[in-house]
Amino acid sequence: MDGFSRRNVLRAGGALGAFGALAAMSPARAEPWSWSPGGSVAGSGSGVDPLTVWDDEADQLVAALIDRGDVPRVNQLLRTWTRNGQPLPDGLPTELRDFMEYARQLPQWTDRGKLGTAVEFNKKRGLYLGVLYGLASGMMSTVIPKEARAVYYSKGGQDLKDRISKTAKLGYDIGTANAYAPDGEMVVTCVKTRLVHAAVRHLLPQSPHWKHSADEEIPISQNDIMVTWHSLPTTVMKHLTAWGVPIPAHESEAFLHSWQVCAHMLGVRDEYIPNSWAEANSQAAQVLDPVLAPTPEGVALADRLLRLGVNLDLAVLSKPILGAFTRFLLGDKIADGLAIPREPVWDPLLRVSWGPFIAVREGLLPVVPLAPDAYWLFDEFLRQAALIYLAELRMPISIELPQMNRDM
Ligand code: HEM
Repeated sequence: MDGFSRRNVLRAGGALGAFGALAAMSPARAEPWSWSPGGSVAGSGSGVDPLTVWDDEADQLVAALIDRGDVPRVNQLLRTWTRNGQPLPDGLPTELRDFMEYARQLPQWTDRGKLGTAVEFNKKRGLYLGVLYGLASGMMSTVIPKEARAVYYSKGGQDLKDRISKTAKLGYDIGTANAYAPDGEMVVTCVKTRLVHAAVRHLLPQSPHWKHSADEEIPISQNDIMVTWHSLPTTVMKHLTAWGVPIPAHESEAFLHSWQVCAHMLGVRDEYIPNSWAEANSQAAQVLDPVLAPTPEGVALADRLLRLGVNLDLAVLSKPILGAFTRFLLGDKIADGLAIPREPVWDPLLRVSWGPFIAVREGLLPVVPLAPDAYWLFDEFLRQAALIYLAELRMPISIELPQMNRDM
């Protein structure tokens, strides 16, 4: 079970038996898709349920690459393609080259001004973003059942540390000053990820393990991509707002814009990409909130994520403290489902003192209403938690097409 804690998984798996069975039997969507394309960046659309839409433009093409045995050669060529403005390497199969030339184009609605403001926001709020991407979005991904199963049974599930570093690359690239500019890397990362997702759609249905546990025929629908998308910017903004972090409207809009462009570059149709935070929140209430549930696969992934800090040998990043922070961010139901133990000291400390700590940090409260020790600990935590993922970003990271599933 390469690195996963078998004991924790089994313990949680037992407790989850009934819950897991329920989740597996539940219908794909409890309510019919009703989010209106009127609230999307396209402004209109077919209104087709995105659970029934995958990626027509990439899926067949990538499946054919895998079936023809072209993947190792393509991966080798694409290793040299790292910058947005760089020409594609010579020697790629023609249909792949044509697709990538098309897929690397930014959408017409890209607003360079907003992307510039997003950079400012990322710089100002980098510490909070690091913790929130890592512990709110990262841990949430383990309670999105379809994502947890897909990740667990795909090739990447075999070496989770490697997979985390590749995923962290996207979170890192989107926050860089030149993310979508010719010398940046975000376009490359998105196009490669789009190809990887297409490969996974072809490969996972061939995994007996995935087929046994999944409640769908083909993974990673457009609906699923938006679910995961909401675990990222929508969730991050929700927490920043709840913490009372002051964010000017134009910065918050710019942050949203950088993620709208990301969704488009991952192949999501514009009619599913929300055009405002209000629309994003309403879509998330429909697609994300109702699906969150633990699965044995997600519990195993969460356990691995919570132990990432151990290697850094930093006291405030111990598994119990990361667990307490996860409980604080995602709530008791999810934390209990993930078999995260209660923490007698950190749980109440976070509940009572995190809000005032942020207020003092933001200059909104003049007096330190906490014990200086707690303030120091929280500050340390903020700084060091950002390192968990940064430490995984050992360059160069190459996102590669898988050609097989996890070897179970
Ligand atoms: C691969 C990001 C949605 C499942 C990747 C990679 C990135 C990424 C950067 C490349 C890393 C790697 O090769 O390991 C994202 C983002 C998403 C999203 C930003 C949404 C905004 C999803 C969803 C699922 C999913 C919805 C499943 C339901 C996978 C799997 C891999 C992958 C299985 C391949 C791992 C392997 O190599 O086997 N994703 N993803 N992703 N993603 Fe996603």
